[in-house]
Amino acid sequence: MKKLLKILGIVLGVAVLAIIVFVIYVNVRGTGSHEVNVPAIPNVEVTPARVERGERIASMLCKHCHLSPETGKMTGRMLKEVPQFGKIYSRNITKDPEIGIGKWSDAEIIYFIRTGINPKSGKFIPPYMPKLLHISDEDLRSVVAFLRSDMPEVQADKSEFPESEPSFLSKFLSLVAFHPYEYPKHEIPDPDTSNQLAWGKYLTLYQIECFACHSKDFKTMNVEVPEKSEGFFGGGNQMTDEDGKPITTLNITPDEETGIGKWSEEEFIKALRSGIVPNGPALRNPMMPYLTLTDAEAKAIYAYLRTVPKISNEVDRGL
Ligand code: HEC
Ligand code: HEC
Repeated sequence: MKKLLKILGIVLGVAVLAIIVFVIYVNVRGTGSHEVNVPAIPNVEVTPARVERGERIASMLCKHCHLSPETGKMTGRMLKEVPQFGKIYSRNITKDPEIGIGKWSDAEIIYFIRTGINPKSGKFIPPYMPKLLHISDEDLRSVVAFLRSDMPEVQADKSEFPESEPSFLSKFLSLVAFHPYEYPKHEIPDPDTSNQLAWGKYLTLYQIECFACHSKDFKTMNVEVPEKSEGFFGGGNQMTDEDGKPITTLNITPDEETGIGKWSEEEFIKALRSGIVPNGPALRNPMMPYLTLTDAEAKAIYAYLRTVPKISNEVDRGL
């Protein structure tokens, strides 16, 4: 009996030690370092058309996380919406050469946004900074043109936040689940805007990425094949608003009872643009009003969302 206890003690001791070593390893490893292979992409020619297009994309995507209410510029802010991922700060991406990305090449910016590997540090950045795998090359070049432009939001500014402190969960998942993406082998063309469904799919999955927030969990979303994300558009993703109060994303599948199956196109467009919904108080942060969406874009998103599989999932808005 004594011998058995002793063996058990040793086994337990070894197990505890192994766990401690593993925890230390995960913490030291962080979110992982990777080889940096920036492809030879020519510099982006900054034209007024590209700047305008890039600004529009940035206003629906990048500004949400990088625009600071204090400076009015892309100097970053603390991302309170995703406390599970740690103390996360989006960074200063103004043209400032030291604090911002003034010294990054266009190719480095594009490589980072596609793969998730920071070209300067080799560090992999978990899903709190989106990776745009399927966005068209011209859309991406336009975003770069905006970042290099004379627009007031991107002018050099020295405001700085501390480095992000990813949680153990972020580090652990970066070891077992999250991974950088391969740089695309071919030029990715613009969507065919004469095909409403294809265009809607492009906007919803690849450009604005509504599926990321509106599927079940950031931890199980599938950036490569968004349709394979758990609970695709069925809502239930736990986030927090700008004050740190919990808020859950809603079911926007065509399910009549728990989704938006009964919404008319008009109601949908109004909700997207102004946050006003047919069945309750206005939508709150982090669902932001998409003010710059054109009618045709909003209609295309509506048309595409009507084709995704219905999911019956009643989400309580907690109001
Ligand atoms: C959901 C929030 C979010 C969105 C949307 C977002 N970012 Fe980020 N971004 C982050 C966070 C957080 C970091 C910092 C990650 C870290 O801790 O290193 C970051 C880092 C970066 C960096 C690296 C800066 C550096 O010095 O390391 C660049 C460049 C960048 N983002 C560009 C963009 C662009 C361009 C867009 C729009 C296409 C965009 N981001 C959209 C959250 C976001
Ligand atoms: C940053 C995360 C985020 C992104 C990105 C996002 N949403 Fe939302 N959305 C939310 C949250 C959170 C709510 C719930 C707000 C509330 O309860 O007040 C919501 C609510 C909605 C609603 C209301 C549904 C209802 O039943 O009232 C619709 C419709 C919607 N979003 C559509 C979209 C579309 C379309 C996109 C892409 C163009 C999108 N959302 C992008 C987080 C997001």
